[in-house]
Amino acid sequence: MEQSFLIRGDFIFSDREGKLKELPDSVLLVKDGIVCGGFSADELPDDFEKLKNGEVHFPETDSVFSAGDAGQQIDTEQGMTDLRGLAYYNFRGRLIIPGFTDLHLHAPQYAFRGMRMDHELLEWLNYSAFPEEARFRSADYARKAYRIFADDLKRGASTRAVIFATLHTDATLELMRLLEDTGLVTMVGKVNMDRNCPPYLTEKNAEESLRETVRWLNACGLNLKERDYTCGPAGGEPVSKTAAGKRSSGQAGDGKQPFSRTFPILTPRFIPACTDELSRGLGRIAKNTGLPVQSHLDENRGEVSWVKELVPESESYTDAYDRMGLLGGPDSFRSVMAHCVWCSDEEIRILKDRDVFLAHCPTSNSNLGSGIAPVTKYIDRRMKLGIGTDIGAGHAVSMIETVRQAVQVSKLYRQYIDENARPLTMAEAFWLGTMGGASFFCPPTWMNRGKKASESGSFLPGYTFDALVLDESQLRTWMENLTLTERLERFLYLADDRDIAHKFAAGRGIF
Ligand code: GUN
Ligand code: FE
Repeated sequence: MEQSFLIRGDFIFSDREGKLKELPDSVLLVKDGIVCGGFSADELPDDFEKLKNGEVHFPETDSVFSAGDAGQQIDTEQGMTDLRGLAYYNFRGRLIIPGFTDLHLHAPQYAFRGMRMDHELLEWLNYSAFPEEARFRSADYARKAYRIFADDLKRGASTRAVIFATLHTDATLELMRLLEDTGLVTMVGKVNMDRNCPPYLTEKNAEESLRETVRWLNACGLNLKERDYTCGPAGGEPVSKTAAGKRSSGQAGDGKQPFSRTFPILTPRFIPACTDELSRGLGRIAKNTGLPVQSHLDENRGEVSWVKELVPESESYTDAYDRMGLLGGPDSFRSVMAHCVWCSDEEIRILKDRDVFLAHCPTSNSNLGSGIAPVTKYIDRRMKLGIGTDIGAGHAVSMIETVRQAVQVSKLYRQYIDENARPLTMAEAFWLGTMGGASFFCPPTWMNRGKKASESGSFLPGYTFDALVLDESQLRTWMENLTLTERLERFLYLADDRDIAHKFAAGRGIF
């Protein structure tokens, strides 16, 4: 159940692209998990503490903040009535920021984070990632490993996350159950991989992979017919041709949903690991159901040339995904591609046209020597963008660490790669880590039963309340009167996940 409450503190958040808004000592009203508005704590009646147990009296409505330049006004009639008995969280003096969205990470790789990093991508997969992922065929191992992952994600800075599991359906469902219990909002993908992988971690063929995908999706509450999506004897085409074109037939939601905040996302590992037949089959599921898609794109130079060999007719790696029907678009399903370090201008054009989200993973790209993504170029071209930890190629599950590294590597990019490139500001990196990535969660999809979900990652009115209450007590200084912006920057450079005192996701208290 979402909650309604008043919360007091020093709020700082992005109210639009790359900008910060400060609300020092203010009170926000959250109703049914949604921010309705706020006002300066100066305007609280003197006897507020006494009153709050009875009827709360609110200040005049013109003191309630509006959405700044966006000009949105709060519906005070609706927002400010019936406040009797509301909970009041008094975090006076504490910095409160929106929760982060980790737009790309691998749950099974959490076990070896911070280890086995002295390789580039393709060797690293064989040496580090695949052997560990194979262990998730055991339900018992998966339960133990995923419990630690879910506990740490819950305790950390992310309120939302977009997650790869492994190819194992039952272990993926176990991960989803554990994540559901954390109260966080997540998308989780059973991974598809049917070629170029070791025999101990591969699906036999496209048909088996698609059959398992349908089984997994139906266990998540969809209602798909296996025969519509597995490859027929002719190969590649759905057995029932009508199913592919008829949106409503595959449109999910007829089944019972076992999860309320844990959603499936289609997850072809990357082009080298998926036959064309499998990729096309997944594209068909995405098109018919509206389910989102996640994968990897243009991460490593060796990988990029391999894709050219594997899909010789493609113009580029992005074009290869496009030919498989995996990119989606503004009027279709959404996709998110991790890395995008080596995209050509033509690829950038396609990605922008299709509203594809890019998950910038700076720690991973440094650790595997993949390169540095030109992130400000993507911002300046107004692409959809967020930040991912990419555990375990990224070493830290902390979005605080990952956001600061996004700033740091962008400065190296300018020094060593392109002197005309603009480095990322901390305000921009914070915006990407909160509002930017979170918007991947709001397009109309099956998970919202076809409706547009409310946005998150900001404290603007109408946004779902995802928040972190920070503890700055370890960050001692003799400087006085720091602005909220200075305190936020200092926190992002110096703090870690242990410095989060409280967390809210989708309006619910997590700890
Ligand atoms: N490309 C394909 N699989 C992976 C993975 O597990 N991690 C990273 N960083 N890149 C990949
Ligand atoms: Fe990854």
